[in-house]
Amino acid sequence: MKKSSKLILAAAGLVALGAVVYRAVNVAPDADLDAGQQMMAIMTDGGCADCHSANPKLPFYANWPGAKTLIKNDVDKGYRHFDVEPMLSAIANRQAVSEVDLAKVEKTLQDGSMSPAKYYLVHWGSQITSAKKKMALNFIRENREQFYPNPLAAAEFKNEAIRPIPDSVPHDAAKAALGEALYHDTRLSADGTVSCATCHGINTGGVDNLKFSEGIGAQMGGINAPTTYNAVFNFAQFWDGRAKTLADQAAGPPLNPVEMGCSSFDEIVERLGADEDFAKRFREAYPEGLSQATITDAIAQYESTLLTPNSAFDRYLKGEENALTAEEISGYELFKDMKCATCHAGVNMGGLSYELMGQRQNYFADREMNTASGLTDSDNGRWAQTKVERDRYRFRTPGLRNIALTWPYYHDGSVSTLEEAVEKMANYQVGRTITPEQTDLITRFLNTLTGEYKGVKLTNDNTK
Ligand code: HEC
Ligand code: HEC
Ligand code: HEC
Repeated sequence: MKKSSKLILAAAGLVALGAVVYRAVNVAPDADLDAGQQMMAIMTDGGCADCHSANPKLPFYANWPGAKTLIKNDVDKGYRHFDVEPMLSAIANRQAVSEVDLAKVEKTLQDGSMSPAKYYLVHWGSQITSAKKKMALNFIRENREQFYPNPLAAAEFKNEAIRPIPDSVPHDAAKAALGEALYHDTRLSADGTVSCATCHGINTGGVDNLKFSEGIGAQMGGINAPTTYNAVFNFAQFWDGRAKTLADQAAGPPLNPVEMGCSSFDEIVERLGADEDFAKRFREAYPEGLSQATITDAIAQYESTLLTPNSAFDRYLKGEENALTAEEISGYELFKDMKCATCHAGVNMGGLSYELMGQRQNYFADREMNTASGLTDSDNGRWAQTKVERDRYRFRTPGLRNIALTWPYYHDGSVSTLEEAVEKMANYQVGRTITPEQTDLITRFLNTLTGEYKGVKLTNDNTK
């Protein structure tokens, strides 16, 4: 055989082999695997963990000239945006995947943005073909059905990333009534001037509408007060997530020197115990009597009743077609298109993950250029609890329910209008320029998120 024909044969052989390998790795997982096994196979082939984990296993070509910087950039950026490990381990253990992770992966599948195109050039098995995409979306739907039941939504909205607020969640009514009294009781503060309601007014959207709150002796805090409405749906409390439950949270303010300033719960128990009527009522619900544990439990029971169902948007999700105007519906479509519904997912439209403030643009650098004040301790976010560098500037995402009533916005209370909050989100979190018309539509949509408390649409006395 001539040398040139040998070469042609060899080349043809390579192409054929390549095609076989390509098929072998790029073919969709077996149809008889269950949805979880299919998803695992798709994510393994897609190399998601190569770029989205704390300890990425670098591919074989990582040391090729040029590849190193390219890969390092992708891995650094990929891990900053998304940690895939919790999702992979939930799938492996057949547990609930976080609603935010489901929403984020669903969005990248819909946009076709993962794995990045340059990754398949060198890792050609990774492509998400349409068969794989269908399987992956099916997994997401099944995980939602199994772990996040959505009985209130109309058929067409059952698989949305956002679910309507239920009319109630389990709680003990007698204990909640005591909690309501405690929530409004200034005896929880050292000088008898401040109650929970001072900073989380029931008639002011569950907030104080101040940049920073004012505690006893007119002392100022250093972070904006989030609302107590629907806080029960958050996976952790506070901007840095330092309280796991509402009861843990309620133990904080009474002893916080700039909020309520008590030296210990003994002091509070003594004051409340001296009120015989109250102590007697309290023992009827809690035979063990007044203590830090029972006081904070009662407050948490009350907060479980601070729900605001039946907003116009929720009525729309429940199937009331005319609950939203055409513009408000376009605003919702844009909200999803612009990825807002990934971090702001679930019943409370947030509260379920820690997210970097400034994913796409450096928020803090820009803020410092515009103000004289430097970074504060509060800006560190989740890092204050974990001391893990990746958590610096990462915040427990706020929920967006009743957002029209809870100005000013952001943990630093730096933004006074909803329009500006939307524009900044598009810029810093999504990396997209947003037109004034789009900002207007999204804001109109956000205005439909005001719900009802005790059957009456929530309003804010500070606007009167
Ligand atoms: C070569 C590295 C690489 C691989 C492989 C990769 N990603 Fe990514 N991913 C990135 C980078 C870089 C970003 C940052 C933003 C961007 O470019 O969109 C990102 C962003 C994301 C985001 C967040 C999107 C956002 O805008 O917040 C999700 C979710 C995601 N990837 C999921 C996946 C999944 C699922 C897979 C596997 C099918 C995957 N990625 C594979 C590099 C990668
Ligand atoms: C002086 C004002 C002030 C008082 C009084 C106060 N809070 Fe707060 N509250 C805040 C601020 C500010 C934050 C945010 C602090 C942070 O995240 O570090 C907060 C956070 C919370 C959160 C977390 C919400 C979320 O989305 O993370 C809940 C719940 C809450 N407070 C309930 C209460 C209860 C219950 C009381 C009474 C026992 C109370 N607060 C008293 C100002 C106050
Ligand atoms: C990557 C996650 C992420 C995405 C995507 C995202 N947000 Fe946010 N959002 C956050 C975080 C985190 C905060 C809190 C930031 C802070 O306080 O510094 C926030 C705050 C907000 C607030 C202020 C809430 C308050 O109570 O102060 C609004 C309004 C908001 N986002 C709307 C949007 C809109 C509209 C979009 C889409 C254009 C969007 N978000 C996209 C994570 C995200």
